[in-house]
Amino acid sequence: MGSHLCDALLGEGHSVVAADNLLTGRLDNIAHLKNDRRFEFVQQDVCFPLDCGRFDFVFHFASPASPVDYAEHGIETLRVGSLGTFNVLETAKQSGAVFLLASTSECYGDPLEHPQRETYWGHVNPIGPRSVYDEAKRFAEAATMAYRRYHKVDTRIVRIFNTYGSRMQVNDGRVIPNFMRQALRGEDLTVYGDGTQTRSFCYVSDEVDGIVRLSRSQEALPVNIGNPNEFTILECARQVLEITGSKSKICYEPLPKDDPKQRQPDITKARTLLGWEPKIELVAGLQLSLEYFQQEVARLAAVTPGRD
Ligand SMILES: NC(=O)c1ccc[n+]([C@@H]2O[C@H](COP(=O)([O-])OP(=O)(O)OC[C@H]3O[C@@H](n4cnc5c(N)ncnc54)[C@H](O)[C@@H]3O)[C@@H](O)[C@H]2O)c1
Repeated sequence: MGSHLCDALLGEGHSVVAADNLLTGRLDNIAHLKNDRRFEFVQQDVCFPLDCGRFDFVFHFASPASPVDYAEHGIETLRVGSLGTFNVLETAKQSGAVFLLASTSECYGDPLEHPQRETYWGHVNPIGPRSVYDEAKRFAEAATMAYRRYHKVDTRIVRIFNTYGSRMQVNDGRVIPNFMRQALRGEDLTVYGDGTQTRSFCYVSDEVDGIVRLSRSQEALPVNIGNPNEFTILECARQVLEITGSKSKICYEPLPKDDPKQRQPDITKARTLLGWEPKIELVAGLQLSLEYFQQEVARLAAVTPGRD
């Protein structure tokens, strides 16, 4: 998502410095910005102090984000949510910049309130396998509010709901890249549980638009940005099969521990405060992403001969 945010900000005429340690990111995603003189890339772990200039806005997006990534990098996830957040907050403080935290719907855990409003405090297992991510983000929210209260940093918190689109890793375990990869390879689409659990999927350009609007608003408390249109996982699998024209079948595997049964943002706050709502529905978003996933599956097949 960070590369899409860079595109949006550069498109508005800003200069952008992007810091990333490439733990789960890829330089390919910013290759098209190589010759843009208003763009600079710094390879840096934000768990160490940053010294890359003075800024008007600081967006803290660094974190392993997919279930596969944070399962593999559990300690790094806790570190970047805690130490990393402190460092990035310090950068914003030194610059007198607006700080925006990329938080997550995972703060709501397996929610008992549906749809989730920002006032809901969540239902999170603090010691389960997902806790490295969920609690890191909850800590990051607490740190953000503390820097606002104690250091007067001008902060924003966006709670991002499932976002998809080009530049995602196809092996990162998230629903849409998983289904796209399997469908394009002619493999069975893996549905966990009976597929009746629901998710809402936001196309990346909508998500970035909401985030940029939030950064310009005065709202300090968390704001949900996501698409409220809810689909069962099974419906999503069928949409992917239709759009890819794949003859793959659907297979079922047990539900992972603490997998949320329902996820749907209440976006009343974003609608009223930011005048924002998503424009691109799932079918259109899948069509817009299809070419990227086709190219990515072909690229991986070429670097892993025998894979297909
Ligand atoms: N995509 C979603 O559906 C979603 C949903 C909720 C929240 N978010 C949040 O949005 C942000 C971006 O997510 P994404 O989907 O683009 O994931 P991503 O994996 O594509 O991007 C995260 C980036 O953070 C970098 N990173 C990780 N640890 C770092 C560190 N210590 N120092 C510097 N860079 C580091 C990675 O290399 C990667 O480029 C994350 O904070 C994520 O938690 C994403």
